Amino acid sequence: MPTFLSLRFREHWVRPALFFGNNPISLAGGAITTAAGVTMIGNWLMEMFAQPHPNPYLGIIFNLILPALFVLGLLIIPVGIFIRHQSLLKAGKIPAVYPKVDFNDRIFRHGVDIVLVATIINFLVVSMASYRGAAYMDSPQFCGASCHVMHPEYTAYKISPHSHVACVECHIGSGARSYFAAKVDGTKQLFEVAFNTYSRPIPSPVQNLRPARVICEGCHTPAKFVGERLLVKSSFADDEQNTETQSVVVLHLGGLDGLSHLTGIHGVHLGHIEYIATDESRTTIPWVSKRNPDGSETAFTASSLNGATPKGERRLMDCIDCHNRAAHTFVTAEEALNSAMAIGAISPSLPWVHKEGLVLLKATYGSQADASTRIPAELEAFYRSSNPDVLSSKADLVKAAGKELVTLYSQNVFPDMKVTWGTHPNHIGHMSYPGCFRCHDGDHNAKDGSSIPQDCAVCHNLLAVDESKPKVLADLGIQQ
Ligand code: HEC
Ligand code: HEC
Ligand code: HEC
Ligand code: HEC
Ligand code: HEC
Repeated sequence: MPTFLSLRFREHWVRPALFFGNNPISLAGGAITTAAGVTMIGNWLMEMFAQPHPNPYLGIIFNLILPALFVLGLLIIPVGIFIRHQSLLKAGKIPAVYPKVDFNDRIFRHGVDIVLVATIINFLVVSMASYRGAAYMDSPQFCGASCHVMHPEYTAYKISPHSHVACVECHIGSGARSYFAAKVDGTKQLFEVAFNTYSRPIPSPVQNLRPARVICEGCHTPAKFVGERLLVKSSFADDEQNTETQSVVVLHLGGLDGLSHLTGIHGVHLGHIEYIATDESRTTIPWVSKRNPDGSETAFTASSLNGATPKGERRLMDCIDCHNRAAHTFVTAEEALNSAMAIGAISPSLPWVHKEGLVLLKATYGSQADASTRIPAELEAFYRSSNPDVLSSKADLVKAAGKELVTLYSQNVFPDMKVTWGTHPNHIGHMSYPGCFRCHDGDHNAKDGSSIPQDCAVCHNLLAVDESKPKVLADLGIQQ
């Protein structure tokens, strides 16, 4: 028998604990803990052998609520003991000697063994549950899926190149301080959700994000020389044949080249360009400055400023000033439709599908559910009235097109969060949003007469612009 079960220990601890513990409150606590513990262990075992259930609300139950109940049960046990002790004390019924604990009694001895084993198990369960609870709160499922406020970002995230990078990797730093700051922020947000006072849409840019170079350079090094990057984009016209044209550009992405020169789009901006934006979304940038190698500064100002320096934060340009939608790319309706048609998810062989698809995507719907019934129905109605042959000969394609339009809509428009086409602009490029042309608009001039260049060839070679079957794609063997 272990020494701590010595006589003294038995008389002063085990006996009173058993005596006072025998009360309805403590027994209920024990029952709650046991039930929660058994359910959690069962769930962990099941997860070992089967796919975890993807439902985020089950995650909340198993990783946060059950552990809380488990601990609550444990806490209730001493509360019951305390209350019984107090009430017996008041009534003067505390026995001088507690009922005998007889270790020669086999049943009793096993009872004590069970309590000991249960304590060890409880300890293991609590450590495992807190570890899992913390891990769960860091999971994209918890951040994105269990909170409908995050629905737009979570949806875009799941189809982004970063779909396997956890939200916390970008949004929360490592170390106790950022963890604490995030939890304080999160609690504030929880209240906003509970009282329905959060802003719709969630504003962008995120003010308390760490500097992008700290975030992104944890995984990507700007010193990587990317060189040239080929980009092919298709667009379809609003005519009956949905005439396809393509643009082919070679982007001078550059980087740090073999001679340690910073070149191209990636090389020239980082670390020495600052700007002042005069709007929240950093779209209007009338003032830009560049630190030259000799330490001097060249300011480029928009002519509207008349040489003055606008008020506002001077921001050092970093990754997010171009890659602001790295993990949450929302596209325009045109971009969404063109990409879907280019890969055949919406068949370009359906007459007028580009024109009609765009009308349906841009229409106003009360909710995503509303859109998901109305879009396919209206596409079908369109063909029934204008082109019944198509409906009979290409029924499958019409159906698939309707389904795909719903997908495109629900990846980009979230009526309940007031996120619609264009709510979150993308700063890469210049076709759909100002992007690079916020500065490279030909109207940012320095005192010495130079300006931030808008010359097309500075950023890319234009091999084809909106051409039908560009020859260069055939030459490259990309298309016939
Ligand atoms: C690769 C890094 C990265 C990952 C991973 C990431 N985010 Fe973001 N997120 C950003 C950046 C950068 C912004 C800021 C955009 C800006 O400043 O314009 C942002 C902005 C947001 C915003 C503000 C609204 C908006 O659309 O701009 C929300 C909300 C958000 N993220 C939620 C999430 C959630 C939820 C997840 C996980 C499911 C997640 N993020 C994963 C980088 C990331
Ligand atoms: C935890 C690691 C991690 C962090 C942090 C991270 N990324 Fe990524 N990034 C990845 C991975 C993984 C991929 C996917 C590579 C692939 O699909 O081949 C990727 C892909 C990309 C791509 C390429 C997309 C494409 O179309 O090819 C860009 C651009 C990018 N990241 C930018 C960023 C920016 C900007 C940030 C900071 C806001 C960032 N990343 C933060 C891991 C990370
Ligand atoms: C001046 C704008 C700008 C800045 C600043 C910028 N990028 Fe980029 N980046 C681009 C453009 C443009 C592309 C090509 C986009 C495309 O292909 O559509 C690109 C492409 C990439 C890619 C994909 C490269 C590949 O191999 O295909 C990664 C990864 C990336 N950027 C990471 C970063 C990181 C990390 C930073 C910050 C250290 C950064 N970028 C800063 C404009 C920028
Ligand atoms: C905040 C302002 C700003 C934004 C946004 C911006 N740039 Fe720049 N860019 C500059 C400045 C300033 C210079 C340096 C001009 C100089 O040296 O005279 C520059 C230089 C360049 C150069 C080198 C030009 C040369 O003469 O060789 C390239 C290429 C370039 N930018 C591409 C881009 C691309 C692509 C984007 C969008 C993805 C972009 N820039 C967005 C400010 C900006
Ligand atoms: C400051 C750099 C910069 C300048 C100047 C610039 N572009 Fe671009 N352009 C880009 C970037 C970056 C992309 C790639 C966008 C993306 O990744 O989607 C692009 C893409 C394109 C495309 C591809 C089609 C598309 O929808 O993206 C065309 C066409 C194009 N540019 C035309 C032009 C023309 C014409 C000019 C001259 C008036 C010009 N660009 C000047 C940076 C620039």
